[in-house]
Amino acid sequence: MLKGKVAVVTGAAMGIGKSTTKILLQNGAKVALLDVNEVAGKGLKTTLDEEYGQENTLFLRCNVESDKDVKDAFQSAMETFGGIDIVFNNAGVLNEADWEKSLSVNLAGVIRVAYVALEHMNKLTGGRGGGVVNTASMAGLQPAAIFPVYSATKHGVVGFTRSIAAASAASGYGVRFNALCPAVVQTDFFADIEVKMGQFSHLYYLIEKIKERDFLDVSQVAECVLELAADEVKNGEALILKNDEKKYMTFPTL
Ligand SMILES: NC(=O)c1ccc[n+]([C@@H]2O[C@H](COP(=O)([O-])OP(=O)(O)OC[C@H]3O[C@@H](n4cnc5c(N)ncnc54)[C@H](O)[C@@H]3O)[C@@H](O)[C@H]2O)c1
Repeated sequence: MLKGKVAVVTGAAMGIGKSTTKILLQNGAKVALLDVNEVAGKGLKTTLDEEYGQENTLFLRCNVESDKDVKDAFQSAMETFGGIDIVFNNAGVLNEADWEKSLSVNLAGVIRVAYVALEHMNKLTGGRGGGVVNTASMAGLQPAAIFPVYSATKHGVVGFTRSIAAASAASGYGVRFNALCPAVVQTDFFADIEVKMGQFSHLYYLIEKIKERDFLDVSQVAECVLELAADEVKNGEALILKNDEKKYMTFPTL
């Protein structure tokens, strides 16, 4: 399905990014794995080399908070694979105790990666066009009492995605932007959650309620990324993924 395509995945070393990297490779894409966690990233690359061949992946240590890291990583991906068609803009953290870090990674990081992606993918400046999938969350569409700033960053990702999608379409860039809004997914994301909740740790009992629900498997999320990456029409959509349901968000018209 993606033979000849090149993908860049941020937050590729673990969780949703790791699972998505695998499904992109299974479908024939070459993948540049970007992550701030060098040990996990290099380890994953070694494993993937055995299954998919070392020429099909590239690991690049990249902190999405750094302009230099992101620009250098995209440049390396371009030089290695000759172009970029798909970006899974996925790196994210949950940390209400250090809420400025959450803003920096989840919102500023997503915007930074999207803008650098555009520099390389924009058809008006020699790019091949393609699709960018930004990882938001259900917490980007509804309130989340246990992590207000995380929710704000994900609302920001949804708003940015819809707006940059409109800007790209109006400008003829040939690059589509869509947001992925999963419910709770089985990853390490919630490790040490009580500490990460900061001043809202007294609401930990609400997390216990979330834990009673079924967690999504990372592979279910990766399938949705593949769907959005392969789709050549959708632009400015927010795809909601719950355990029993997958649907595109209908936003009110004002
Ligand atoms: N797990 C969930 O329940 C859930 C639900 C909805 C959305 N999300 C979103 O999905 C995305 C991935 O989360 P996950 O559950 O796979 O978490 P995870 O912690 O398993 O993986 C996140 C990855 O991002 C990397 N990362 C963190 N900060 C980075 C930075 N500054 N630069 C580059 N890489 C960085 C980490 O090293 C890690 O490999 C996040 O944006 C998260 O907000 C997660």
